[in-house]
Amino acid sequence: MNSVQGVDVQSIDAAHIWHPYAEPGLFAYPVSRTEGVHLQLASGALLIDAMSSWWAAIHGHSNPRLTAAAKDQIDRMSHVMFGGLTHTPAALLTERLLDLTGGNFSQVFYSDSGSVAVEVAMKMALQYARGQGHPERTKFLTWRSGYHGDTFATMSVCDPDGGMHSFWGSAVTQQRFAPPPPVRGSSPVDQRAYLEHFATLVTDDVAAIIIEPVVQGAGGMRFHDPELVKGLRQLADAHAIPLIADEIATGFGRSGQLFTTLDNGVVPDIMCVGKALTGGFMTLAATLATEKIAAGMEPKALMHGPTFMANPLACAVAAESVAMVAEGQWRTQVAAIEEGLREGLEPLRNNPGVADVRVLGAIGVVEMERDVPMRAATEAAMERGVWIRPFGRLIYTMPPYICTPENIETICAGIAAAVGVSTKE
Ligand SMILES: Cc1ncc(COP(=O)(O)O)c(C=O)c1O
Repeated sequence: MNSVQGVDVQSIDAAHIWHPYAEPGLFAYPVSRTEGVHLQLASGALLIDAMSSWWAAIHGHSNPRLTAAAKDQIDRMSHVMFGGLTHTPAALLTERLLDLTGGNFSQVFYSDSGSVAVEVAMKMALQYARGQGHPERTKFLTWRSGYHGDTFATMSVCDPDGGMHSFWGSAVTQQRFAPPPPVRGSSPVDQRAYLEHFATLVTDDVAAIIIEPVVQGAGGMRFHDPELVKGLRQLADAHAIPLIADEIATGFGRSGQLFTTLDNGVVPDIMCVGKALTGGFMTLAATLATEKIAAGMEPKALMHGPTFMANPLACAVAAESVAMVAEGQWRTQVAAIEEGLREGLEPLRNNPGVADVRVLGAIGVVEMERDVPMRAATEAAMERGVWIRPFGRLIYTMPPYICTPENIETICAGIAAAVGVSTKE
């Protein structure tokens, strides 16, 4: 049963449609509906979306408040260009976003994906360097194991191995890399030594430091201590260069904190958000800058302008999603999920082939010693009613915040099944 709404999705897809990082023709499961934590497949299977559809659907799918916001907006205006025009959804979202981020930022640039939001952050830093009389500052300093997107500038600051720099060769700009940050819970001595080494990498041509704070996501699902982020803030200050925080994965409560920078007393100069900005309803991202950065750029105009910038539909939905985040229910929800994931995943630590188990907020990770057989692991979880998408050696979940304790138990059982088949092969 691969036909959805009278369309043979499976055949058309297999013949003609590329999927992320996949050869054409590889199997993809047709989805016919979503509701709450569930994906309904065309086959009839009902799966808990343990990925929140790539970490975005924090309030669950087809959330009635987000749907109502979209319907209300679509009757008025679906899209207008943002060059020379503006609208209520953008203004409302901006007001709420600036409020949610504690009044630390003064300017917002809207774009259509996380990668573009990071590209824009990098442009801001380069324009700021010019504004400060340092046009020679064109490089970015980051740590290894990071991920910031798949466009060319963002790839250049992804982990050089995971980001396949050698595959892309000289098409990717050479940036400056520190070793991966010491893992969460490392000793203050190790953290200090790490930061001292990091400091030696700030050369005269560095325009900004860019990092994913506290959680490195697609580069390896690694967690580190906020102390390192504080250390990088001091380092950036000492060199008068911006600190760019990519909170596209961590923002809006995912790690148990609203924002992993601000909640730890670190105000980045530039911050990127995306993914959960619209509650996973549709694509939208934003790059926020402090007044200092906005005022110090040369030229003052930000040299970027996507066709669908600040799309009114997306902004209206995002404004509602940000309002829901501001109401704060996520705090108890994420705390409960964290507890459930610890309980459910920790026992897997003793399984053969498991290298590590780690949980932070609504993020649960089982790292295997070897690469996971993706299809077998995915289908083992599907048999338990759970949708996951393992990659490399990682089997992980980032569930919607509305998951019940029973949903989390089911997710952990799905992950355990995936671990089981991964040790067999
Ligand atoms: C930290 C981080 N930055 C940037 C991106 C890129 O976002 P997008 O896939 O929307 O381009 C991602 C996506 O996974 C991410 O996790």
